[in-house]
Amino acid sequence: MPQRPPPNLQLPPADLEGVGDDTWLDVIHKMEEVYSKLVSDEVELEEKNAQLEQSQQFIFSLLSSMSDVLIACNQDGLIEESNAALCELVGRSEQDLRGTPVPDLLADAQSVQRWQLAMYHAAAHEVAVVELNLRDAHGLPVPVDMSCTPRHNSTGRQVGRVLVGRPLGEIKRAYHQLREAHDALKLAQQQLLHSEKMASLGRLVAGVAHELNNPISFVLGNVHVLQRYGSRLGRYLEALHQLDLPTPVQALRQELRIDALLKDLPSLMEGTLEGAQRTADIVNGLKRFSSASQGEVTQVELNAVVERAIHWVQKGTAPHFEIHWTRGPDCFVSGNAGQLLQVMMNLIQNAADATSANTAADAARAAAPQLWISLVQQDGQVQLRFSDNGPGIAPAHLSHIFDPFFTTKSVGKGTGLGLSISYGLVEQHGGRLAVANLPQGGAEFTLILPRA
Ligand SMILES: Nc1ncnc2c1ncn2[C@@H]1O[C@H](COP(=O)(O)OP(=O)(O)OP(=O)(O)O)[C@@H](O)[C@H]1O
Ligand SMILES: [Mg+2]
Repeated sequence: MPQRPPPNLQLPPADLEGVGDDTWLDVIHKMEEVYSKLVSDEVELEEKNAQLEQSQQFIFSLLSSMSDVLIACNQDGLIEESNAALCELVGRSEQDLRGTPVPDLLADAQSVQRWQLAMYHAAAHEVAVVELNLRDAHGLPVPVDMSCTPRHNSTGRQVGRVLVGRPLGEIKRAYHQLREAHDALKLAQQQLLHSEKMASLGRLVAGVAHELNNPISFVLGNVHVLQRYGSRLGRYLEALHQLDLPTPVQALRQELRIDALLKDLPSLMEGTLEGAQRTADIVNGLKRFSSASQGEVTQVELNAVVERAIHWVQKGTAPHFEIHWTRGPDCFVSGNAGQLLQVMMNLIQNAADATSANTAADAARAAAPQLWISLVQQDGQVQLRFSDNGPGIAPAHLSHIFDPFFTTKSVGKGTGLGLSISYGLVEQHGGRLAVANLPQGGAEFTLILPRA
């Protein structure tokens, strides 16, 4: 409330004689009315002023918090208002921008042309969207998608335009980040699914391997003993057959086809032994697949592991399998050397199997079997690539390649456990194993491990 002192309401001096008291009282009354109207008008004015200040503050906070750039210009294209985002982008203050023609902020003639077209549309009360290149604080063009809207005063007359836009680079960057996050999420989800599948399969397989382990060991043991007994019995019977045996025994020898039986016995035993051995190998593979223990963890030098793996695989494969490998600087990871050797041997053996042609016709067509191994140390990671010139992996097989028992090899040639065991071992080392087909043909396995 205003603190103005009230007017002096005393009666007038005596020299104003002839004016009656009633008239004076009327005048005083009117003055009082005028004064109280004045006071209430002033209160109203101050309230309106406060409201105006509040809404100005509100508009200012809106404009400054906007990440989009904003320009309000008059009919001649001179800037009247701008926001903090525009000031930051063009590197000029709001005062400096006031009165500047919009085309002064544009980076090229094409943008000026588009701006003129947008002004023309806005003049026809239309909203136009144009891509303008603004010149940033360093003089570089920044593409901005601008919507240009006519601006009117309280009587509805057009007084200028409002331009609002977002730098496209920012949208593109945000989109790129979103895409990367989405891809990472998808990969993590796939890995999680695979790990879960492996974990439940691991439990099942551990049970089966445990149950099979005992019977298969006594089958193996007994077959070995039977082999020995069989050869002894054979020697004994051969000695008997040298003698002059009675006729009924001779007849029984014929009837029971003892000679043919003796001839078949060693190969039957060998077949049984081989089958039992293969089953034992599978059981061992299953046990390794389900084993959760990481074994002894040390600082392992990877170049040395690669070289040992190459040595062991080359010993057992055809000599024409050529491996290209150049030893690099020492590279340490923390893990179990035996398990890492097993992973690499499996990858190299698989490449040797895939690249060696099956038939003579294939051999004539195929290039000499080759494998390239490279080791790259990058940030906190080590990347080992195994790229071969084999037939690659059929697209339909790509998603099953790490599944246990997935194999395209003939019975007895592969268990299909190699890659699934390797995958589990690499995961235990905090790494990743991935596969892809090369554009020029052939498969590429990438083994990523964290550096020690
Ligand atoms: N370098 C490669 N090129 C083409 N196919 C491959 C390659 N490596 C693996 N594969 C495919 O993946 C399958 C699974 O491999 P994995 O090592 O798990 O089992 P395997 O080699 O068949 O049997 P095991 O390893 O038990 O001897 C193979 O049968 C083969 O079809
Ligand atoms: Mg294999």
